[in-house]
Amino acid sequence: MAVHRGEFNSRLGFILAAAGSAVGLGNIWKFPFEVGAGGGAAFVVMYLIFCFLLCFPVMVAEIAIGRKTRRNPVGAFKALKTPNWSFIGKLGILSGFLILSFYNVVAAWAFGFFIEMLVGNFAIGSEFGNFIKDWLKVGIFGLLFMSMTAYIVSHGVQRGIERAAKFLMPSLIIIMVVLLIYSLSLEGAIDGLRFYLIPDFSKINGQVIYSALGQAFFSLSLGMGALITYGSYLNKNQDIVGSAVMITLMDVGIAFLAGLMLFPLVFSQGIEPNGGAGLVFVTLPGVFENLGPNMGVVVGSLFFLLLSFAALTSTVSLLEVPVSYVVDEHKVPRTRAVWLTAGLIFVIGIPSLLSQGANGFFSNFIEIIGLAREGMTDYSFLEFIQWVANDTFLPFGGMMISIYAAYIWKKENLTEELAHGNKNYAGSNMEKFINFAITYLAPSVLAVIFVLTVLNRFFGIDSIA
Ligand code: PHE
Repeated sequence: MAVHRGEFNSRLGFILAAAGSAVGLGNIWKFPFEVGAGGGAAFVVMYLIFCFLLCFPVMVAEIAIGRKTRRNPVGAFKALKTPNWSFIGKLGILSGFLILSFYNVVAAWAFGFFIEMLVGNFAIGSEFGNFIKDWLKVGIFGLLFMSMTAYIVSHGVQRGIERAAKFLMPSLIIIMVVLLIYSLSLEGAIDGLRFYLIPDFSKINGQVIYSALGQAFFSLSLGMGALITYGSYLNKNQDIVGSAVMITLMDVGIAFLAGLMLFPLVFSQGIEPNGGAGLVFVTLPGVFENLGPNMGVVVGSLFFLLLSFAALTSTVSLLEVPVSYVVDEHKVPRTRAVWLTAGLIFVIGIPSLLSQGANGFFSNFIEIIGLAREGMTDYSFLEFIQWVANDTFLPFGGMMISIYAAYIWKKENLTEELAHGNKNYAGSNMEKFINFAITYLAPSVLAVIFVLTVLNRFFGIDSIA
């Protein structure tokens, strides 16, 4: 069974591929505008707490389940002789479909902006609202992007996913650091830093908590089996806990860096930080323009190219989940599975594509179905999918995975799996923390927030003022 499945070549390859999955539009596009909408540093604090206390243990559990069973997220539960729990994997595949369907649209924006920067069209920032309405153009970029994703995934784990990540991830970090240095040198940078770094805890309310939790899961690619899948390609000698620490730190670090880079720019240009999904796209072109025509083209196109790359290592992991399922469970040849799934997801993404901008098709979707909230900046279908998938399904999936690992698979078995590749794990404080988190902390906290999120997002009841 496991013969044809492929395996990561090295520990570094696995870490980069998993970090490549984690680091993406979530860090550079979504994190800053969520911070902007959620009141600044207070959001950042909530996000960090969720990442380390709740998400990290779930990540360890996901990778362990994957490596133990060497299966996709549905097959994994069958392999552990608990087929009733494979609904977790099925929900994960559904989440993956939904997420990739809108993610590809945003990736298409990023790719489109790369082309705009290349031809020196810096005015595109202020025309962002019109850019996203041009569904034909964005649709073509989207088709291109989905094809690149499918192409990589069709080449399998080592030659496709691992090779791409090894090259793309380091490049991204370098360009971000360069932009960060520039942004910190600007006049007015300090106001941005204040907004980003000094928390005003009176700004924490239900919305901030639900979005910060959804963002933590989304950003770390958790709760839908992406890391069960990647874990299934991991060698038994590798240290799962150590790798998970690295992946979490890289992901959180890059999101943090993105904010550190962006908020000084936002404030020095007098842009409102709570403008929603356009924040990165509206802010940056003007900055690149100020670098002068030549530098502007170089840095600007490089930035959006790397944003596209970051998105690509994430779309690859999103597509790999349903593909591994179809390949393992239904014995469909890999190439066919890849192109069929990618095509289907592209079609599911059409409403997100058409829903953009004022008067766009479905742009008032949330209003139509009666879910609009006061103070919302974006009523689009794309926003709605994120409520369902990121903020509701992912934390729910994470809760189920914790419960499963602690009570059904059992902690002893988890520890045994984690001890492969980490001789000192059994009996360590890390073991105590992870066991405590998956047994008590994650199930209870995630259950409470899940109920509150559903009440708020889908019934309009605000339980936390
Ligand atoms: N973590 C990715 C990002 O931040 C998105 C993602 C979510 C990828 C879930 C895979 C699974 O961009």
